[in-house]
Amino acid sequence: MRRLNQPLFVPHHPADTNKAPGKWLLSTYAQAQFILNDTVHFTKNNAASRTRGPEPGFDASMLFQDEPEHRRLRSLVEDLFRRTAINRYAEVVSGNAKLLLAEHECGDTLDLVQAFAEPLPLLTITELLGIPKTKMPILRRLSRAITSATDDLTVTESTYATKAAAYKDLGVLMQAGLNGEWEPPQDSLLLRLRNLTNDSTLRQDQAIAMLTLLLFAGHETTIALIGSCLYLLFAHPEQRRLLQANPDLLTGAIEESLRFESPLQRSTFRMTLSDIAIEGHYFGPGEQVSAILGSANRDEKIFSNAHSFRIDRFPNPHLAFGRGNYHCIGRHLSALEARIAIQEFLNHFGKSSLAGQAQWQPNSFVRSLQNLPFHLGA
Ligand code: HEM
Repeated sequence: MRRLNQPLFVPHHPADTNKAPGKWLLSTYAQAQFILNDTVHFTKNNAASRTRGPEPGFDASMLFQDEPEHRRLRSLVEDLFRRTAINRYAEVVSGNAKLLLAEHECGDTLDLVQAFAEPLPLLTITELLGIPKTKMPILRRLSRAITSATDDLTVTESTYATKAAAYKDLGVLMQAGLNGEWEPPQDSLLLRLRNLTNDSTLRQDQAIAMLTLLLFAGHETTIALIGSCLYLLFAHPEQRRLLQANPDLLTGAIEESLRFESPLQRSTFRMTLSDIAIEGHYFGPGEQVSAILGSANRDEKIFSNAHSFRIDRFPNPHLAFGRGNYHCIGRHLSALEARIAIQEFLNHFGKSSLAGQAQWQPNSFVRSLQNLPFHLGA
C-alpha cells in the first residue's frame, strides 16, 4: 500500500452501527501525521457517527469527543499521567517485576507472555485505578474479549456480541466501584472519579467510560510492548549484547520496539466533516479514515533501513503513541513499565534464549504476542 500510495477501503461488518459503510486506511507517514494532527476537518465524536447513538464502552470517553469536551475530560486526569507523577509507580512496578521473576529459575522453560508480560501491566493499572487485585482475572478476560473484536478485518457476528457483553460487564464492575462496593486508596483514580461524579463534574456514563478506557488502553498495549521488546532483543542477539554493554540504550530499545512492532497498528478513526484532500487523496464529508501507524513507522522516507531493528536509532520520530490533541496519555507509564520489565529481566535472566516459535495474536489492530517460549539462563 505504501509503495503504491493507495488507500484501502475496509467495509464495515453488517453488525456495525457506524453510519459510514466502511473506513479508509492510509499507510504513509505523511498521511498518518495529517490525520492525527488535524482537528478541523474531522470529528472524533463516535456517538454522532452511529446510527443508534452512543454505545457502552468508550463512546463517552475523551478518546471519542471533539474539542472542547475532549480537553475538559482529559484535563480531569492528565496530572496523574505526567512523567513526574508516574515516577511514583517505579517502586511498585519494580517490586512486582521482581516477584514475578522470582517464581522461576535458571533452566526453566516457560511462556514469558503468561508469566511476565501479561501480569505486570495488569498489576500496575489496577493499582493506579484503585481496583482490587481479586478482580484481575475477570478484567483480563473481558479485556481480551474486547481486543478480539477490535480487528475490522476479522470481526464476526459472534465477536461483536462477545464485545458488547464484555463492555456491559465492565460497566457493571466500574459502576460498583463508583458506588462504593470497595474502598479505593486515597490517591487512586477511582476515588477521584467518584468525587467528580458526586459534584456533577462528570456524568456516571462518562466516569464508567473513562475507567473502561484507562483499564483497557492501560494494559493491553503495554503487554504488547513488553512482549515485543523481549522477543526482539532475543531474536536480535547483537542488539541485546549492544544493550547489555550500553545500558543507556534501554530507552532507545523501547522506542525502537514501539516503532518496529507498534502495539496499536492503527489509529482510531476520524470522520470527515467536509471535502478534504489528504496527501493527494480526496474524501467527501461523512467518510471514515484511519492511519496505519505500523506502516507509517516503517516508512522508508522517514526511517533509514526501516525494516532493521536498531536500538541506537536516532532520531526515532515514531507515531506509536499517536500525535496531536489525542496523543497517548499513558505513554510515560508504559515506557516506565517497559524499562523496568526489560532491565529486571536482563538482570535476572540475561543469558536466556528463545525456546521455540513465538506466535503473534491473529489481530491486525493490536500487535501482541500470543506466547513467547523462553529458556531461562542467568
Ligand atoms: C505501549 C503502550 C501504548 C501504546 C502503543 C498506546 C497507543 C496509543 C495511541 C496510538 C493513541 C492515540 C489514538 C488516536 O489518536 O487515534 C493513544 C491514546 C490514548 N491512550 Fe495510549 N497507548 C499505550 C499505553 C497507554 C496507557 C498505559 C494508558 C493509560 C494508563 C493509555 C491511555 C490512552 C488514552 C486515555 C488515550 C486517549 C487520549 C485522548 O483521547 O486524549 N495508553 N494511545
